[in-house]
Amino acid sequence: MGQQLEHPALLTMSDRITARVLANEYLERNEPTAWFDKLYAMGKAETVTIPWADMVPNRHLLEWLEVHRSRSEGRALIVGCGLGDDAEELSRRGYMVTAFDIAPTAIEWCGNRFPDSEVDYLVCDLFDTPADWHMAYDLVVDAYTIQALPLQLRSRCLRSLAELVSPGGELLVITRGRGDDEPAEELPRPVSLQELSGLKEAGLKEVSVEDYFDNEDPPRRRFRVVYSRP
Ligand SMILES: C[S@@+](CC[C@H](N)C(=O)[O-])C[C@H]1O[C@@H](n2cnc3c(N)ncnc32)[C@H](O)[C@@H]1O
Repeated sequence: MGQQLEHPALLTMSDRITARVLANEYLERNEPTAWFDKLYAMGKAETVTIPWADMVPNRHLLEWLEVHRSRSEGRALIVGCGLGDDAEELSRRGYMVTAFDIAPTAIEWCGNRFPDSEVDYLVCDLFDTPADWHMAYDLVVDAYTIQALPLQLRSRCLRSLAELVSPGGELLVITRGRGDDEPAEELPRPVSLQELSGLKEAGLKEVSVEDYFDNEDPPRRRFRVVYSRP
């Protein structure tokens, strides 16, 4: 199967289809998160463009920061940080930022892109975070990690995210959204509000839910939700 993943046919597919093929192949192998590093390695070798990496901070994060954060202080944790633009933005705004990703190639790439960064970039699995991160962060940000994971990992993912939020701290989730009864078989697999309500079961309190269509062509449904730990 490993050989199959190197198949030259992958190099002729659109980048999103390449991501889907990799995600499905690794899911079948019961390694649902192993494909990310593979894709980043292809990205670094310039055989694909990483479909989600805009190389600028996430606009849905920027809007939220403008409206809701006049003061930026405390410890922020960026989950599944990818190529680091959101982490750098929060650092620029004054947060002490830790950013992690399961893909070593992504973290190495962050180091190459931002050699003088004040962000602490780390390879780490959301499902196996250090004990001293638990309930330690004033702001936890997740953009698009939940939707990249298969449905069977979602409730565990939400519990793991919730665990990182300090008392009085907040979790911001930015994700593609779907109705509770809509299917989500192919990447990106949008997240439902029912799934996100798992954050309440994990001890957080819902602060705000924005459910809107973005200005892409065609417009995509998005959720930007904030939960806090009382
Ligand atoms: C769709 S990408 C989004 C990346 C980045 N947040 C962005 O918006 O550009 C999802 C990211 O989550 C990372 N990821 C997936 N599962 C993870 C896990 N269990 N622990 C840490 N990172 C994970 C992937 O490697 C990938 O970088």
